[in-house]
Amino acid sequence: MPTSYKPVFQLKLTRLTDNTHDPATALSVMQEYHGLLLSICDRLEAIADTLPVPVNVSECRFLSQELLPSMKASHRFEEERFFMSARLTINGGAVLDDVIARLCEEHREDQFFAEEICEEMRILVAGTHCNNAEVTGYMLRGFFGQMRRHIAFERDFLCIPMAQRLAKI
Ligand SMILES: [Fe+2]
Repeated sequence: MPTSYKPVFQLKLTRLTDNTHDPATALSVMQEYHGLLLSICDRLEAIADTLPVPVNVSECRFLSQELLPSMKASHRFEEERFFMSARLTINGGAVLDDVIARLCEEHREDQFFAEEICEEMRILVAGTHCNNAEVTGYMLRGFFGQMRRHIAFERDFLCIPMAQRLAKI
């Protein structure tokens, strides 16, 4: 396991404290969740690169167990804490509200897609090889590409403007 990776439950226990209502803390926790999800993207990409065989079975098992809880924890934090902090800090009005509504919709879509990826990981664990490597590789690349774009958008349109506003306070 890369040393930079933090299991989601450790992250929740150590960082999700009451002071996440503080915008600077909310931003910091959000950046940690982004880092966690991007590290999962990198690990999925490594699996896609090794298809069709041999696949790293223990890595597939780990991802089949961690992907969905990590993603749900991040989305929960975003929707319950971070987006409100971003709205108050950036003060982006109706345009920002529309952006946040679209991001929430993307969260639902990403979670459905993540369930399919977890099932694909379980198939790889059970069979140690892929029945249709091209389809599996296409799925994995579609998933982590979408997740990276989502995170890049949140970074550019929420995290960076928020950090700039906080630096002026
Ligand atoms: Fe998000």
